[in-house]
Amino acid sequence: MPTWPRIPRWTTLRQSLKMARDPIGNLNRLLAAHGDTVRLYLGGVRDSVVTRDPALAQHILQKSHRRYVKSDLTHGLLRYLGRGLLTNEGADWLRQRRLIQPGFHRQRLAGLTRLMRAVADEWVAELEAQVGPRGSAVLDVHPAATRVAFRVVARSVFGSSLGEEQLQLLSDWLTAIQAFYVGTIRQPYLRPWHWVRGRYDHHDELARRLRQLVLAAVGRHRAATAAAHPGTPAPDDLLQMLLEARYEDTGAAMPENQLLDELNILLVAGHETSANALAWACYLLARHPEAQAQLLAEIERELPLGRAPEFEDLSRLPYALQVVQETMRLYPPAWVLDRVATEADEFQGQAIAPGTLFSIYLYGLHHHPSLWPESEAFRPTRFAPGAAPAPPAFGYLPFGSGPRLCVGNQFALTELQLVLVQLVRRFRLALAEEAAPTLNPLVTLRPGGELPLRFERR
Ligand code: HEM
Repeated sequence: MPTWPRIPRWTTLRQSLKMARDPIGNLNRLLAAHGDTVRLYLGGVRDSVVTRDPALAQHILQKSHRRYVKSDLTHGLLRYLGRGLLTNEGADWLRQRRLIQPGFHRQRLAGLTRLMRAVADEWVAELEAQVGPRGSAVLDVHPAATRVAFRVVARSVFGSSLGEEQLQLLSDWLTAIQAFYVGTIRQPYLRPWHWVRGRYDHHDELARRLRQLVLAAVGRHRAATAAAHPGTPAPDDLLQMLLEARYEDTGAAMPENQLLDELNILLVAGHETSANALAWACYLLARHPEAQAQLLAEIERELPLGRAPEFEDLSRLPYALQVVQETMRLYPPAWVLDRVATEADEFQGQAIAPGTLFSIYLYGLHHHPSLWPESEAFRPTRFAPGAAPAPPAFGYLPFGSGPRLCVGNQFALTELQLVLVQLVRRFRLALAEEAAPTLNPLVTLRPGGELPLRFERR
């Protein structure tokens, strides 16, 4: 029976600072040295199995998913964000998923495309103003991408019920909460210190304010709909869909507390991930001018004379999609997924005890040298229909897999394709510095510091 190699506790304790500083570099080294699945102590204290084995990922996420739930690493977010789709489990999760999923169906996305495009155009105009009359400037692309991604999801959820200032507050508070939360996971031995310094209280307070802000936006949305002239079509946003949705079993609407939790979760799950994917896509296009030229040629062919893209156009822009897919291979925004076994299980003869914690290391899967030829090269056409070799099954999981697959995956792909198209037709992106950016894996995979790119008006 194979046994997964164990990295001794003293080694991980000794390396825990290094691991906190550069988890990806350290995990890559460990897995290259010991095999695709290893046992180690996260943060020097937490026994965990880390894997970049596609078969084990499939086993946990799909084949044997009933025996696994997310761990307290995800459930810990409950304290700040509540019990929404991402943090929920079991029958309650399934009931919510059934209620919410129709909001992300194709025909609803088609409606949201116009809204996304409006946000993208506003953003590109803002970049043009920043670039100014000289027509070229160096901008940090990560905060810029965060602005547009947050606006896309916030406007898709709330329509016009949130003002600019409230949007900014929401974004700032969510970022602060996530950064603090990840810090407490990575360096658990600092928890007493955070507690003494009142940092838990501070972030609890931010979470309370966040909830109040979201509640007020729901109130404004309800009031605006109630005051609308009879015959005015209901808003096309996700909040309206959630307000109108009824449970299959009882026919009741979602209770308000649950609604607030779901809204919080949609905002969190739906903006940082897309922002990171967009920032990394811009960086990769700047680094690979030939790919950028190919993308522009596709856009000019399919959308001549600057025609605005509609939902139906996106399927005629396959290279734009491939750029997004390859970006998320090299820089998976969700770089690790956590699961814990709720009962005894077995994988390829290896017994799995109840309580075993797994970290499914998506970054490791996506860079695995035996799954991907020239795994470090940026080659969007790997994802072209009929490409040989085809992307490996369960070797590419940017949106997870199985029943907990990202509910917003089509939303995100649509958004990313649209925003990139509107950006690249107006700007040429170029590197502002040669050095490769460092990685900062928080809940999502961000660039380590600034990600400066030269934006040149076309
Ligand atoms: C590039 C963008 C995105 C990436 C890479 C991404 C990735 C993921 C992944 C990997 C999961 C599964 C987590 C797990 O199994 O532990 C997930 C779940 C989820 N995502 Fe996304 N996501 C993205 C965009 C979005 C957007 C735009 C939304 C909503 C507007 C969203 C909402 C959610 C929700 C609600 C869940 C929980 C689903 C459930 O468990 O039922 N995501 N996402």
